Amino acid sequence: MFSKTKIMPSMHLFILLFVYLIVFISPAGASHLDVLNNSCVDCHRTLSPFTPEQSRFNEIRLNHIERNISCSLECHEDVIRKQATDNFQQWSDSLHSQYYVTCDACHGGNPEAETKAGAHASMKNSSDPNSTIYFKNIPDTCGKCHSDVLANFKNTMHYQRLRAESRAPSCITCHQPHTFKVLKASELTNVCSVCHNPKDNIAPPEVPNEAKQALEKQNELQDEILKAKNAVAQAKTEGMDVYTAQMDIDAAVAVMNNAPTLWHGFNLKDFDTQIQSGIDYARNAEYIASGTEPTPRAPAAGIAFVLGIFALLYFLRKR
Ligand code: HEC
Ligand code: HEC
Ligand code: HEC
Ligand code: HEC
Ligand code: HEC
Repeated sequence: MFSKTKIMPSMHLFILLFVYLIVFISPAGASHLDVLNNSCVDCHRTLSPFTPEQSRFNEIRLNHIERNISCSLECHEDVIRKQATDNFQQWSDSLHSQYYVTCDACHGGNPEAETKAGAHASMKNSSDPNSTIYFKNIPDTCGKCHSDVLANFKNTMHYQRLRAESRAPSCITCHQPHTFKVLKASELTNVCSVCHNPKDNIAPPEVPNEAKQALEKQNELQDEILKAKNAVAQAKTEGMDVYTAQMDIDAAVAVMNNAPTLWHGFNLKDFDTQIQSGIDYARNAEYIASGTEPTPRAPAAGIAFVLGIFALLYFLRKR
């Protein structure tokens, strides 16, 4: 038998170890980059974000701002954004750094070599068709890890056009390197309408609007799931049986979890149908849990029922 005095110290040790693990090993810990042993990251964190050429651009821009020359600001701003952004800083703020997706995961090279030449030796420039970050190869590079997204993306006109070397978005058109942020509904229009507009005749112009609505509907699904969960929690405290309501919530959550992957099939009709089915599940759960009659999921069922009664009456009268 264990005595009380024997258990207590080992408990303390266990708690200490647990806290240690959370602080030093958890990806969310502030110091997670310190434990990386990756020469790309180690060296690039020490580099200045500005090369001499970029610094010169920045000076020109500041001069223009001082003299109130706004046109020139517009002309140079894009160039500066592209060249003078700090890749390392953007990357280290992104989810990729928290999950140890280091530079070499996309760029190749040798993260064990300490010198620049050694580390870069096998790395190819983005303009080289054999590079992992050559524009046509980017989906496959990302798809090594985001395989479900890639599988959906491969079935689209976007992918086909990209392979055919014409104007089409690749992953980084919508997920800027190296922040790799996810666009929100309100941010879609600007990105899509670069190609989807009435002027250029490249791609259907109604898409930006439809795409925005599709993602807004996904937000609605999220809200409905929250409402349903609250209703079920309430019903539980009142001692109600919430089994079927919980099943409907699970179905709605499954639709929600699959949505970002499904999105990359760029079949907005199909996307809409799926999201709507999720909303129906969530609403159904809420109705069950809050005690009111659930609305029939398909109005067709109600119509069929009424027609059935008429058919039966007709049949009986005939006899
Ligand atoms: C010892 C320092 C050092 C190491 C290690 C290092 N780099 Fe670099 N890297 C640099 C410097 C400095 C530059 C700036 C461009 C130049 O002068 O060539 C650079 C440039 C780059 C570029 C831009 C290349 C271009 O042609 O524009 C990429 C991409 C890159 N590094 C990725 C990596 C990757 C991936 C690794 C690890 C496999 C790595 N680096 C390891 C110092 C390093
Ligand atoms: C998740 C993938 C990914 C990671 C991780 C990543 N990059 Fe990149 N990087 C890219 C892609 C894709 C491009 C091409 C951008 C383009 O074509 O405009 C790029 C472009 C660059 C460039 C411009 C060079 C060129 O050949 O065009 C530099 C410099 C660079 N990355 C440095 C880094 C450094 C340093 C790290 C790590 C701190 C890093 N990247 C991490 C995907 C990544
Ligand atoms: C070595 C594996 C790996 C590669 C290669 C990779 N990713 Fe990721 N990516 C991850 C992981 C892990 C996460 C974080 C967990 C998650 O969201 O699944 C992530 C997250 C993301 C996110 C969500 C970011 C957020 O803030 O929510 C985007 C967008 C993304 N990656 C895009 C890309 C793109 C585009 C490329 C190619 C240029 C790429 N990834 C290459 C592993 C990878
Ligand atoms: C760089 C150009 C470009 C950008 C940016 C772009 N698209 Fe497209 N898109 C195309 C092209 C090209 C087609 C194919 C048009 C055709 O049918 O010939 C297309 C087709 C589509 C289709 C029809 C689906 C299909 O496979 O037939 C949808 C939906 C779509 N895009 C959604 C979007 C959304 C949403 C955005 C913004 C988040 C976006 N696109 C951004 C070029 C672009
Ligand atoms: C035309 C724009 C566009 C293109 C091209 C695109 N994405 Fe996305 N991506 C989005 C949008 C918008 C979302 C958010 C979708 C949602 O919430 O339903 C997203 C979401 C994601 C996520 C987040 C998933 C999550 O669980 O939150 C990842 C990872 C991702 N994309 C990776 C990729 C990869 C890899 C590619 C290339 C194979 C790619 N994307 C191509 C617009 C795009």
